[in-house]
Amino acid sequence: MPPPESRHPHFVKNPRALYDFKGRPCAITAVGSYVPERILTNADLERMVETSDEWIVSRTGIRERHVAAPDEATSDLAAKAALRAMERAGITGDQIDLIIVATVTPDMPFPSTACLVQEKIGARRAAAFDIEAACSGFIYALEIGQQFIQSRTYETVLVIGAEKLSSVTDWTDRNTCVLFGDGAGAAILQSRPDSHGLLTAYMGADGSKGSVLCVPAGGSRQPSSAETVQQRLHFIRMDGKETFKNAVQAMQGAALEVLRRCELDISEITCVIPHQANRRIIDAVGERLGIRADQLYVNVDRYGNTSAASVAIALDEAVASGRIVRGNLVLLMVFGAGFTWASAIIEW
Ligand code: ACO
Repeated sequence: MPPPESRHPHFVKNPRALYDFKGRPCAITAVGSYVPERILTNADLERMVETSDEWIVSRTGIRERHVAAPDEATSDLAAKAALRAMERAGITGDQIDLIIVATVTPDMPFPSTACLVQEKIGARRAAAFDIEAACSGFIYALEIGQQFIQSRTYETVLVIGAEKLSSVTDWTDRNTCVLFGDGAGAAILQSRPDSHGLLTAYMGADGSKGSVLCVPAGGSRQPSSAETVQQRLHFIRMDGKETFKNAVQAMQGAALEVLRRCELDISEITCVIPHQANRRIIDAVGERLGIRADQLYVNVDRYGNTSAASVAIALDEAVASGRIVRGNLVLLMVFGAGFTWASAIIEW
């Protein structure tokens, strides 16, 4: 029996195979997600700031978002999503070798949220660290995690995108507060002999645009002080139009890069999961890439922008609802603060 690498049509297209790649394929063997119970609707926001359901829906496509309870932190959301993925994969905490959490809203500057999750899910053997690539974090974390599977360093890696964006949202600023939500999504990475999983992933960044979308204070540049609190510098600041324009261009470019590497046409992709920030951004990217409506997975209407959790939650929903089944080709594409962007093609 030939090794799986030489049996499958897509794997020979994988650039790692072309470059005499000797690693083993990395599959996502299970996914899970969790969103907090409390739902904040556009009608609720109408009572908080000068806005309207009509404005929010027509400009963003968002109808409601989930908001964590005051005593619920990012690690709590992350651990719940992780436990769901672990149950589906049929693994216990002891079997996890590495935990990577992508977040811009860690429980605290240190220890890492990944270490807090390790304790909550009983993954005593696991190494744990966070990565920060804003809304692109989940794909960045997938790409990092898969290296450890391919190189045979680890057997099981847990990758999580988790955010409590409500903790950095200025609830008096109508320009931003209507956009964001809280939640978490998790994926278990393992090598599966009969599948090729992540065919390729691509990551990019443009640090010159850092100030377009940021939380200005609370770090070493502007440590927390009475003044920074008074000036509301611990909340998200965003130039919406500049973000919009760059998001469309970067996600289109990122998608084309992974399609080119795998020698795939967009029409061959079963399910496209873009970062869920704004329905208009999704539609603009979809139009440029020639994505059919039946290929697109969209849930921004129910969750808003959950940053690093966004595509992870959507992936879990798409799998749970049967939109993605074994053997399907899935395209993920994301864009976020930094600016950062990333894409991946997965054979499910
Ligand atoms: N309700 C009512 N009116 C509003 C609201 C609101 N919630 N927010 C803004 N407005 C007003 C503005 O004040 C402006 O009024 P003015 O003309 O009197 O000044 C008017 O609506 C138009 O504002 P625009 O900025 O032109 O609206 P636009 O069509 O650009 O939509 C939006 C704004 C939705 C923010 C859009 O620019 C966008 O989605 N940008 C990308 C945002 C995004 O995706 N961010 C996340 C990126 S990923 C990450 O890493 C977090």
